Amino acid sequence: MKNRFNKILHSGFLLAASNLTSFGQGAVTPTPATEKVPEIFFQSELYLLIFLFLIMLIVIISLTKSLKKLSYALLSPEKRQALELKKEKAFEEELHGPSFWTRFDRDILTKAVPVEKEADIMLDHNYDGIKELDNNLPPWWVWGFYATIIFAFVYLAHYHLFRTGPLQTEEYNIAMQEAADQAKARELSMKDFVSAETITALNTPEALGAGKGIYDKNCVACHGAELGGSVGPNLTDDFWINGGGIRNIFKVITEGVPAKGMISWKSQLTPKQIQQVASFILTKHGSNPVGGKEPQGEKYVEEMISSQLTDSISVDSIIIVNQ
Ligand code: HEC
Repeated sequence: MKNRFNKILHSGFLLAASNLTSFGQGAVTPTPATEKVPEIFFQSELYLLIFLFLIMLIVIISLTKSLKKLSYALLSPEKRQALELKKEKAFEEELHGPSFWTRFDRDILTKAVPVEKEADIMLDHNYDGIKELDNNLPPWWVWGFYATIIFAFVYLAHYHLFRTGPLQTEEYNIAMQEAADQAKARELSMKDFVSAETITALNTPEALGAGKGIYDKNCVACHGAELGGSVGPNLTDDFWINGGGIRNIFKVITEGVPAKGMISWKSQLTPKQIQQVASFILTKHGSNPVGGKEPQGEKYVEEMISSQLTDSISVDSIIIVNQ
């Protein structure tokens, strides 16, 4: 919300600048928070001055009012009558005056002098027959002009006096910081991203602990608490239906073998979690649990070890070879 406010202010600044060309963007250096509000606003003299100024204003207004009354009282009776008559006439006109549209045009759109009275506002120069009318400026335009002046003060207070909005350099720095944060977040998410091509087995206690947690929660029902197998095959022996090794295991868990009753876990586990549980399974290799299912599939020999090792130069991940 505040940001949008600042944007509006900035675009409006261009308009305002044409009126108040003298106030520039000179003071763009960001100041510490403590200097945000200028000293002068904390001095009581300022408010006393403003107060006095207002009192004086009231006095002046009431004085001019009484002066007006006085001068009216001093008029001769004829003149007073003439004045009354004039007022009455104006009132009459207001009652049965011009239509709404005429007034709208006169008061808001053009405020043009009626054609029959144009002679009054004709300027007295004449260039080869070209004369000039001194018509009023369109009221809407004049209001817009005043609005830009008011706006300029709001802008000045917001950015330069109270420093509640970021100036251009600050805005630039904020944007750069945001971009840097986003880049960092992207880098982090890339680090979490694991695919069958890049996967390596994890060996940190945290990763394996997390993997065990995931296994206990999701896999025990079909593969047994000790991975010896029940509905699903034994995961501790040398024999694999879909191939052993971290890559194949990762692929099977990710995609599943739906036709054989092993579901795909990619909608329930993140790649990182699948990597953790796959790594955990590898640590149980050869544990030979009691009541384990007889081997199924083919004996898997880790023939990819050497290539996997050269693939994985990553420092925090080591291939777990048969233990
Ligand atoms: C509903 C029962 C069921 C659940 C739950 C289950 N699996 Fe399986 N899983 C199976 C079956 C059945 C197979 C055999 C698929 C085949 O024959 O290709 C299998 C195969 C596997 C394989 C490949 C084994 C091989 O020899 O190729 C792995 C690895 C595996 N599951 C891991 C997991 C993990 C990890 C989880 C938990 C996240 C899990 N499974 C949950 C039923 C299950």
